[in-house]
Amino acid sequence: MTHQPRHLTDSQTPQSRPDVQTRVDALRNEIRRHDYLYYVKNRPEISDQEYDRLFRELTDLETAHPDLITPDSPTQRVGAPPLAELKKTQHVRPMLSLDSVAGMEDVLAFDKRVRRELGRELGQEMDTAAIHYTVEPKYDGLSVELIYENGIFTRGATRGDGTIGEDVTVNLRTLRSLPLQLQADADPPSRLVARAEVYMRLDDFQALNRRITERGEEAFANPRNAASGALRQLDSRITAERPLVITCYEIMAQSGTLPPTHWEELECLSRWGLPVPLHRRRCARIEEVIAFHAETEAVRDQLPFEIDGVVVKIDRRDWQEALGEKSRSPRWAIAYKFTPRKEITQVQDIVVSVGRTGTLTPLALLKPVDVGGVTISRATLHNADEVARKDIRVGDTVRVERAGDVIPAIAERVIIPGEQRAAPFRMPDRCPVCGSAVAREGAYYYCSGQTACPAQLKGELEHFASKGALNIDGLGKKTVAQLVEKGMVRDLADLYTLTKEQLLPLEGFADRSASLLLEAIDRSKQVSLERFLVGLGIRQVGQHIARVLARRFGTLDAIIAADRDTFESVHEIGPEIAASLESFFREERNRQVIERLRALGLQITAAAQRESQGQRPFEGKTFVFTGGLKGFSREEARRRVEQLGGRVASSLSKQTDYVVAGMDPGSKLDQAKRLGVTVVTEEEFGSLLNQT
Ligand code: IVH
Repeated sequence: MTHQPRHLTDSQTPQSRPDVQTRVDALRNEIRRHDYLYYVKNRPEISDQEYDRLFRELTDLETAHPDLITPDSPTQRVGAPPLAELKKTQHVRPMLSLDSVAGMEDVLAFDKRVRRELGRELGQEMDTAAIHYTVEPKYDGLSVELIYENGIFTRGATRGDGTIGEDVTVNLRTLRSLPLQLQADADPPSRLVARAEVYMRLDDFQALNRRITERGEEAFANPRNAASGALRQLDSRITAERPLVITCYEIMAQSGTLPPTHWEELECLSRWGLPVPLHRRRCARIEEVIAFHAETEAVRDQLPFEIDGVVVKIDRRDWQEALGEKSRSPRWAIAYKFTPRKEITQVQDIVVSVGRTGTLTPLALLKPVDVGGVTISRATLHNADEVARKDIRVGDTVRVERAGDVIPAIAERVIIPGEQRAAPFRMPDRCPVCGSAVAREGAYYYCSGQTACPAQLKGELEHFASKGALNIDGLGKKTVAQLVEKGMVRDLADLYTLTKEQLLPLEGFADRSASLLLEAIDRSKQVSLERFLVGLGIRQVGQHIARVLARRFGTLDAIIAADRDTFESVHEIGPEIAASLESFFREERNRQVIERLRALGLQITAAAQRESQGQRPFEGKTFVFTGGLKGFSREEARRRVEQLGGRVASSLSKQTDYVVAGMDPGSKLDQAKRLGVTVVTEEEFGSLLNQT
């Protein structure tokens, strides 16, 4: 059938294999260079579109020639199969911790001690006036060991206990600011072991917490915990979704001679392509160190990530060695901390709140205290395990902290010698709101009462009526509370049986407001599948997953009929969400409520119907692009096609609907003609987009 020479039958490109390899290499180098400029140097040279174009070209070539894929290709930053466990690994050298000081006096004392000890160690030949310190931020994250062999990133591990850590190589590979290869032209050592800090930017942290709480899960207390959670995932795809950054601050070992000072050490790391602290200073006197600390603390709140102090290091490495180390920290460096955003107060009571999904959350009621300008009178204790681990009891003195935008948390208990303590906290056996039995799932406790529990029913109704769900105007917290407490509403469906006579006696209602609420309830009877799914308040199903489900299944009945495996086969739906969906729709009570809602006139618009009405004209159509486009980046063109319901493929077949031929189109054009596939120019493609 085909007239192509044999060595080309596996691919559809006109290029010979050596040509492809050359192009792939060139693209990889180019992409790495731009990654470095963007993520490490903060100085991009090309637009995002241009970058996407390079990336797409590489992905296309690798798709056509899978045998050319190498683990250090920029396309391979995600995609390792999930691990069964994180393997333990021994560090090349112990990863020490730092002693910390909080005040100026302590730093002056450190300087004095260093001078005294160095003078003693080195005797007459030592001129203590020559001591320099290098100071840099103390990043509030978790430290990792990075190993590069022949310039290639080969292993990364968490600190663990300082001697043995966990191998998180695949997860670290997903960090864009971590070079998978060192800059070959900067002559890096054949073996390099470096130490770095991994952390999360505050904006990314807040976005992550929003996504998590939308799924009904517990938010992370601070960026540090979020970073640690992200890095210690078994599935690197999850790490890749949670943007982490890295800054490198120490050479732990290397082949050849080490740079003579810490300052030069940072310069070398930077030359080899690793991100290093940009804000740093070499100080000839301890007063300059103190000034750097003050200046840094003053801009602390403007930084996009959290730092909790500065690290002061003796600059000369031979002097570092002369000073040596104690069992767990060096004598030549200290962490000079900022004034903590933590304050001490008392736990006045521990109460248990019941959430919308029935989760019982212990909450500490505190003697009000000002933490960094915000008065804090309550703090979440997350769950029973956390209370036990921190051993918090009523009457205890505790340190509370505030990180980013989140709910304040209790950092730790302050132990007061000889204090009389109350009994340890215990989760109740019965729901504090409805008295139903409490069920346990791992660290979490749930009220088994479901919507028989007024707390859960109120939460369910408020959520159902909220903007992102059925959007029932006028059905706020206060009204919901009255409807539930007066027994007028026992489930979601009861909302649609309410009458004006019932509403009028309620607090805050008059003739007009009652009519308005009834109208709003009536309007909500026309609802999209996506919003209805959000409204049901299924655990782990927020707006995003609801959209995914609506698009994939089209109708509520198809969703009700699906089982766990079917849910799991959907991209973006993992085993936990699938299980939650299955158990929700299997529950008889939930099915009955849905039936009653429909009987009372609720009409759920099927997603497929809605979307095909003019909005998804490319539904079922496959596009293949060949050659360069003038008006679009490949990524943009793909996005537009997908927005209109179509799909973009990298290789051609009889099933392809359109080939868009740009400049220098290549062999795909001939092939398209052979297969009888419609070929359009970029202009024609543009007008296809605009017709819609
Ligand atoms: S130097 C032997 N430099 O702070 C040298 N550590 O409290 C040890 N950290 O475990 C570390 N930023 O995770 C160093 N610029 C920096 C740092 C830094 C953050 C962390 C590191 C360490 C902890 C000690």
